[in-house]
Amino acid sequence: MNFNNVTFECSYGKPEQLPPSDFPEIAFAGRSNVGKSSMLNKIFNRRHMARVSATPGKTATINFFRVENTRFADLPGYGYARVSKAEKARWGKLIEGYFRQERDLRLVFLLVDMRHPPTKDDLQMIDFLVESGLPFAIALTKLDKLSKKQREERLEALKTELPYADQINCLTFSAVTGEGLENITEIIEDVVKD
Ligand code: GTP
Ligand code: MG
Repeated sequence: MNFNNVTFECSYGKPEQLPPSDFPEIAFAGRSNVGKSSMLNKIFNRRHMARVSATPGKTATINFFRVENTRFADLPGYGYARVSKAEKARWGKLIEGYFRQERDLRLVFLLVDMRHPPTKDDLQMIDFLVESGLPFAIALTKLDKLSKKQREERLEALKTELPYADQINCLTFSAVTGEGLENITEIIEDVVKD
């Protein structure tokens, strides 16, 4: 797949606007500021395809990108305390509406900040994905911010912090150095073929 050959398709703020998905799709979920948009830009090898911001809550809509016959969904992040109640409710409806739709969803990357234990929201998201029977993998982000020793410590701790740890595919990634990028693109190419 030539990931660089990407086009922005559209963005949606309400679940009822979401068109049915007729393409194999990969979704990027996770708490606000974890690095979803940055990961997409790295995959596409484009600096500004998906909007990135140091301020959490940058992506407030579901944004679709297309590479060949594959669709990529950049989801708004959860768990940002400063967002209003109404906005949180809208977010919940949008994400839930998205995941409950009949879509050709091949994989959800659930991004978790590698520096910290998964948050309550992360754990809730994992439960939701397991209960919905959606295929997912965890991508541990911001790998560049950890020393080799810290990486080992966090990987060890995650074995007990994550439910179903032995059954979940866990990858590590840095949008700054590109470490782990190949694992991610390989998985994507593998799940979208046929
Ligand atoms: P929302 O759209 O708010 O849900 O956030 P997001 O998950 O899309 O995060 P985004 O990609 O906008 O990145 C948030 C901040 O983290 C930005 O300042 C990024 O530059 C930074 N960031 C993202 N990935 C990495 C990474 O791998 N390493 C480092 N050091 N910083 C990162
Ligand atoms: Mg974003």
